[in-house]
Amino acid sequence: MNIGTTFLIAAFLGLYGAASGEELHFEAPEAPLQTQDKHQKADSTIVYATVGRSQYAFDIYSLPAETDPVEANAEVRLTDGQSVNFNGAFGRRQDELFFVSERDGNMELYNRRVKNEMSSKHSYERMTSDPSMQDRPIQTKDGRIIFASTHVPNPQPRHGWTAIYNSKEGSLHKARRLTPENETDYSPALSPDEKWLAVASGSGKTGESDVVVMKAKNGSHRRTVAKNGGWPTFAADGKSLFFHRQSEDGWWSIYWKDIDGDLETRITPPGRDFFTPAAFHAGDRRVAVAFQDANKIRQIAVLYNGPTASRTEWYMTQLTNLSTHHYNPFVSPDGQQVGYHRCRCLGADSDEYIPVLERHTTSLPGVDLMRIDGSFPSFSDDDKYILYNEGFTGVSAVARDGSHKQLIFKGPAFGTSASVYDKQRVVATASGPTFATEDKTVHIFLLTDGSSGSEDWGNADVLKLTKNGTGNNAFPAFSSDGSEIVFRSGRTGDKNLYIMSTRGEEHGLLRLTEGPWDDTMPGWTPASGWIVFASSRNYVDSNRPAGAFDIFMVRPDGSGLRRVFDSHGGLANHPKFSPKFTPEAGRIVFTSDYAGYSAEEIALPHQFQPYGDLFAINIDGTGLQRLTHDPYENGTPTWGSNGTPEVKARKSTKLSCSFDDSVEWLRPKQAAVSKTTANVNDMQQQASSASFWCPFARHQTDEEIAPSR
Ligand SMILES: *[C@@H]1O[C@H](CO)[C@@H](O)[C@H](O)[C@H]1NC(C)=O
Ligand SMILES: *[C@@H]1O[C@H](CO)[C@@H](O)[C@H](O)[C@H]1NC(C)=O
Ligand SMILES: *[C@@H]1O[C@H](CO)[C@@H](O)[C@H](O)[C@H]1NC(C)=O
Ligand SMILES: *[C@@H]1O[C@H](CO)[C@@H](O)[C@H](O)[C@H]1NC(C)=O
Repeated sequence: MNIGTTFLIAAFLGLYGAASGEELHFEAPEAPLQTQDKHQKADSTIVYATVGRSQYAFDIYSLPAETDPVEANAEVRLTDGQSVNFNGAFGRRQDELFFVSERDGNMELYNRRVKNEMSSKHSYERMTSDPSMQDRPIQTKDGRIIFASTHVPNPQPRHGWTAIYNSKEGSLHKARRLTPENETDYSPALSPDEKWLAVASGSGKTGESDVVVMKAKNGSHRRTVAKNGGWPTFAADGKSLFFHRQSEDGWWSIYWKDIDGDLETRITPPGRDFFTPAAFHAGDRRVAVAFQDANKIRQIAVLYNGPTASRTEWYMTQLTNLSTHHYNPFVSPDGQQVGYHRCRCLGADSDEYIPVLERHTTSLPGVDLMRIDGSFPSFSDDDKYILYNEGFTGVSAVARDGSHKQLIFKGPAFGTSASVYDKQRVVATASGPTFATEDKTVHIFLLTDGSSGSEDWGNADVLKLTKNGTGNNAFPAFSSDGSEIVFRSGRTGDKNLYIMSTRGEEHGLLRLTEGPWDDTMPGWTPASGWIVFASSRNYVDSNRPAGAFDIFMVRPDGSGLRRVFDSHGGLANHPKFSPKFTPEAGRIVFTSDYAGYSAEEIALPHQFQPYGDLFAINIDGTGLQRLTHDPYENGTPTWGSNGTPEVKARKSTKLSCSFDDSVEWLRPKQAAVSKTTANVNDMQQQASSASFWCPFARHQTDEEIAPSR
């Protein structure tokens, strides 16, 4: 197989909706997508945040499966310390590794092999090139690759796009879609004889997928073998499989299921969480798993039937014990090695800094898509700086190339909007428990650049714009001339929109919207003719889905109200207009869960929710386009009127790899709710410690903390 041939899934866009088993042809365009991207000069930039993503940098490691206790220095790093490398799978050749990496901007498949017999150096080959997500590669004995991809849209709102594909023998230019139209499949696993494929099908949300098997060749003979389960792995006998499930008692557990019979057994006891199993195929009943240790750290272990044990007794050998999370184990074909990924920032190579800005692949022509190490970015009036929150401990300014980073305001701050007012550079922000109830005190502040005319920003003068006793005021956004600020306020008992003078509300205040719902996160068009915002107004009845928002537009005088995006009861937030707005050709960028889950959430670091992905839409509601493809929580975009030709990966903060295990977040509802409540209440306090951040706190927490609103 010639793996070097660039695999261009992009070419099968026209085959959207092809039925299961039908062949999809990956025609190779004349030049690979990436090259086209590089030559196309962008004339605008979207900068956005991804919750927690910059806090980790994974590499793939392996350990011998047999040794007990694990010897010091037995762990081998299999990837090269660039970007994040994860979800590995051993190839059929001893030295070959298939994995996912974001080194080129989004989740693509790569292959690592030894360069030549005489050297221990490796070569890395990129196997896919597409703006969508590629995940979970498996190499078959005859050299094909089975993998997950979000390339083809799912036409149903809030259903995942992830489906399983099987590349054609000898060529990665052609792949067969194994997942039926409109279905979502995650976490593929092959039977030892390679005749059967098992997947988690349904939603990547905990408790919303079933284990399904089908023919690996063409997706036929599809049937459900276990309800409420995910991450299947075939046992060595090929007739049974292991999978994970959050048991009714709340513990994540490994189950064993006979494929053709009714036998189903839970093999791990309550009292400990086990997930993401990978069975050995070398003729025994061993399963590599991840589990949560007593310190709430995710570790790798091997479960096995003890020599004297009855069929249901399993024993555990712990393979890893570093105090960092270890994810998604995989086993070599000969059963000698167990691989997994973890943060590399431990020990010798810990001196790593997070880049301020990272380029993400995009399908939007003429637009650069950049992730910032922070949240709520906004462009300065002259487009030369990005203002943003680094944690929620202040407001920072950074030049467009990632240099000249300065903290201009230190103190709790949530959100940024930058402008020029009274010939001075200004930033508006909010301070207080933004996501708490309407009556909680949150004020809007005006920060005036204190640099007195120099290029760089200086420490800001601070002016409170909202009056005492006006409740929860947040999400300020400047009109284009800097003279007015639109914001949302809970002052009358509902979170609606208001416009005030940049000198403060006592110099002019106008109520823009009114109703028993939330209107929030507003933004103006460049000429201030329109305001875009998120609203729950279509979900006010008793059947309101928790946290449901749509995107609306309205003129600053309150006329012309219209809905631009219908989330179908989902999340839609953080809308911003394109910089080259005209009523005929205006676009809006926003974040939504409209594309569902892209992967099983338990297999990822902590995300507060699958808030989703960035989307762009025309202001007439047509032309919806997904901009990011990953299982992360992307949001708080801003759209500026210049491209970003050079990405200098300037250093931001030091990589700490401190983040929570998602298991905690995914506990059964009761536990999760009380945790959310605590988080929101503690937000200000937490902001000062900077170890916790949550720019996308769920809106339903409003009700959760105050049932008597
Ligand atoms: C953890 O691993 C180290 C080295 O690999 C070993 O010396 C130590 O005994 C292990 N500790 C536990 C609790 O397994
Ligand atoms: C897939 O979903 C679309 C949109 O809901 C629908 O029109 C189409 O009939 C569905 N296809 C199948 C095979 O169910
Ligand atoms: C799919 O492959 C199986 C053999 O693996 C075969 O029996 C079946 O006819 C095929 N179905 C289709 C629709 O090609
Ligand atoms: C508003 O509240 C702050 C803090 O409680 C207080 O210092 C200030 O004097 C108050 N302003 C007015 C005008 O009452």
